[in-house]
Amino acid sequence: MELKPFESKVWLSTPTMHGDEIVYITEAYDSNWMSTIGTNIDTVESLIAEKIGCQHAAALASGTSALHLSVKLAGEKLYGITKTGKGALCGHKVFCSDVTFSATINPVIYEGGEPVFIDTEYDTWNMDPAALEKAFEMYPDVRLVVLVHLYGIPGKIDEIKEICKKHNALLIEDAAESLGASYKGVQTGRFGDYSAISFNGNKIITGSSGGMFLTDSTEDVEKVRKWSTQSREAAPWYQHEEIGYNYRMSNVIAGVVRGQIPYLDEHIAQKKAIYERYKEGFKGLPVSMNPYDSENSEPNFWLSCIIIDKDAMCRQVRSGSDALYISEDGKSCPTEILEKLAKYNAEGRPVWKPMHAQPIFRKNDFITAMGSGRAKTNAYIKGDFADVGSDIFNRGLCLPSDNKMTPEEQDIIIEIIKSCF
Ligand SMILES: Cc1ncc(COP(=O)(O)O)c(C=O)c1O
Repeated sequence: MELKPFESKVWLSTPTMHGDEIVYITEAYDSNWMSTIGTNIDTVESLIAEKIGCQHAAALASGTSALHLSVKLAGEKLYGITKTGKGALCGHKVFCSDVTFSATINPVIYEGGEPVFIDTEYDTWNMDPAALEKAFEMYPDVRLVVLVHLYGIPGKIDEIKEICKKHNALLIEDAAESLGASYKGVQTGRFGDYSAISFNGNKIITGSSGGMFLTDSTEDVEKVRKWSTQSREAAPWYQHEEIGYNYRMSNVIAGVVRGQIPYLDEHIAQKKAIYERYKEGFKGLPVSMNPYDSENSEPNFWLSCIIIDKDAMCRQVRSGSDALYISEDGKSCPTEILEKLAKYNAEGRPVWKPMHAQPIFRKNDFITAMGSGRAKTNAYIKGDFADVGSDIFNRGLCLPSDNKMTPEEQDIIIEIIKSCF
C-alpha cells in the first residue's frame, strides 16, 4: 500500500455531534434559561444518575470541579469541617493513581493534601492493589484513595475496594475517561464513595466541557450543589457561612450533554470496533493493545493504545521536553511511531506520563509493589524500569481513536505503524 498523508487530519478523539444537541441549546436560548439553572441541567442529572445506577448526580463545570468537591467532602468527613477555605486535607497523605492525567491529582493539592503515588499493574494499566497494600503497610493512617480508570478500562475494583474497606479508607473514583464502562455489570462511577465523570471535548460523550459528581448520599449531593453555587445560605440576601465555588454546569452546556447521552452506547460500540480492528491489524507485530479483564469488565474503549514488546524497542531517550531515538530494523519506539503518524497527518499521544515522574511532584512518595517504596523518577534496576508506570510510559502510546475515523483510514494508520518496524 502506498502511504500518503491524510488530507484531513485523523484525530485522537474529537467531539461527535448528532443534531439533538442544538435542539436543547436552542430550547435553553428560547426559554431564556441561559444560566446555571434549567431543564437541561435537571434532565442530564437524572439521566446520568439512572445510567450509572447511583442515587444522585450533580452537574458541574468540569470533571476537575467534581473531583475537587469529592476530595473536599472526603476531607471533611475524615478530618472535620473547615469553614475557612483552608484545605480539608491539610497535613494528610492521600494514595493516588500514578499513571493518570494531572486533573486526578490537582484537587488533592487544592485541599492541602499530600499525594502519594501508587504504582500501576500490567493487566489493566491502573492502580496496582499489591502496591496499594504496601502503601498501607507504610502509612497505616492514610484514609483516602483516589483511583482512575485509565483510557476507559476499569481497574481492579474488587481488590481495591477490599483494601480500602480493610483500612477504613474512603474511595474516590475518577471515572472521567470511563463513562459507560462497567465492571461485573456495574457502571464505573458507582464504586467510589464519591465519583466524578467528565464531559470535556475529547471524552466519549461531551458537553464541550462539563462534569458530574456522583454519590448515593442526599446530604452530600446537597452540599456539592451548595458549594458549587458560591455556598449561599437560605436567606433573602447573600449570606455565607462557608467558602464557595462557581462550579455549576451551564444550562447551555447541559443541552449539549443532553443531546449526547442517547448516543453513548453508539460511541462505545464505535470505539470498541476501532480497538478490535487495531488488535486484528497488529497481529504478527511485536505490540499489544492496552489490556483489560475480559472476564469481569466491559471497557468503553475511549482510547486505543499499544505497548511495544520489550525486545522490539529501539533506543529512545526522553528529557523533560524532547525525545530522541535511534531507528533500527525490526524495532521501533513510541517517539518514532508518533513522529511518523504526525508526518501522515494523524494524531497519536504518548501514554500519560506517570505523576511520580512529573517535576511538580518530584518530592512526593511513590510506592511500588516490590520496591523500597521510594523508587524515584526513571529509576532503573538492571537496565529496566523499576516501576510499571514508567515502563508503560516508555513503551506505550495512544493511537488515533476518533469514532469518525473510517475503517480505510484506520487501515492506513495500521500500515504506517507496521512500516516503523
Ligand atoms: C483521568 C481524568 N481525570 C480528570 C479529568 C478532568 O476532567 P475535565 O477536563 O472535565 O476537568 C480528565 C480529563 O480531562 C481525565 O482524563
